[in-house]
Amino acid sequence: MSYSALLSPINVGAMRLPNRVFMAPLTRLRSADLPNGTKNIGGLPTPLMATYYTQRASSGLIITEATDIAADAKGYAGAPGVFSDAQIAGWKMIADSVHQAGGHIAMQLWHTGVVSHYSLRPQGQPPVSASTVDLGDAVRTSLRDDEGKVYRVTATPAREMTTAEIKQTVDDFASAARNAIEAGMDVIEIHGAHGYLIHQFLYESVNQRSDEYGGSLENRMRFLTEILTAVTSAIGSDKVGIRISPLGQFNGVDAGSEDDALAIIKLIDSFNLAYLHISEPDWAGGKPFTAEFRRQIRDTYHGVLIGAGGYTAEKADALIRDGLIDAVAFGRSYIANPDLVERFHQNAPLNKANSATFYGGDQEGYTDYPALAQ
Ligand code: FNR
Repeated sequence: MSYSALLSPINVGAMRLPNRVFMAPLTRLRSADLPNGTKNIGGLPTPLMATYYTQRASSGLIITEATDIAADAKGYAGAPGVFSDAQIAGWKMIADSVHQAGGHIAMQLWHTGVVSHYSLRPQGQPPVSASTVDLGDAVRTSLRDDEGKVYRVTATPAREMTTAEIKQTVDDFASAARNAIEAGMDVIEIHGAHGYLIHQFLYESVNQRSDEYGGSLENRMRFLTEILTAVTSAIGSDKVGIRISPLGQFNGVDAGSEDDALAIIKLIDSFNLAYLHISEPDWAGGKPFTAEFRRQIRDTYHGVLIGAGGYTAEKADALIRDGLIDAVAFGRSYIANPDLVERFHQNAPLNKANSATFYGGDQEGYTDYPALAQ
């Protein structure tokens, strides 16, 4: 079996990429805390993270783990940020190293909204979201204990954002995008998926606002529209991608309808971005997209379309060949196979990912998965 469509070059924004085997954004919670005791607010990229990403530089495009746009955006202990000079310098080390190895790298930017915990917040205050919500155990997040070990907790109920906070968050997305480009990232990816803040605004299960950001779908899309406008004017639309997760149920946010998803995709299409990245629902227990819905997405979106979620090389190659997507982001296969592209070239077997070492910890289950030659 040869995967000639998946392994063929592609233009994305201003980049010419050697293959369509992209690395999906993967939260690994290994960034460093600040030395001054504010242990959960650090989010500093480390040399170990540079090794991890550089090992995967043969990917057509590495998309980084979700990265906090501001201290206020934080929802997971150990997730990195891109809002301080030290964080920008740390990411520069990573981007330079990936580029030296011949790779390309996009940074995923997030605000976690209700998926947070008061102990991660700058003044220990409750998280913010589209509306005041308590989703109980449907929303959990990760903290670190004194030894740095990650453990899970129920998220703290969130308070509705004021209009001023919404505007501030839109600005935070734009300044984080500028910071990412300053750090040498080729592209940024807005995290509009998986029940985080942007997704919380899009659907009524969390967004019960009665102002211009709630109610009709047009109003619920206003926050996303403002972010896309601000980020594309800050760094240029050819350096901006976005990830969404239509029909997937995450963190207490509804799966939504196909019609709503197509309306959101139509809005995104109007921004002429570098790409649209779709996290499909089946890897997380949802129903697979129908062939008809895939065709409607393709007809609605006119740029580069990335598929993700439960893909094998066979499925990726077939859907690219059928013209339904242009590239595929692999998640767990990339955790376990730094040389995934080479393995696809050789049709070689894949290492299995160990889920016990997905979140937090050290090099074990992070930089020690063997490449083929080893
Ligand atoms: C993820 N996923 C994810 N998605 C995202 O948009 N931002 C993120 O930071 C993360 N973090 C993350 C961590 C871990 C450990 C896993 C397993 C998944 C989802 C990921 O990008 C991908 O969509 C899924 O893993 C499904 O693709 P695979 O693994 O079936 O190829």
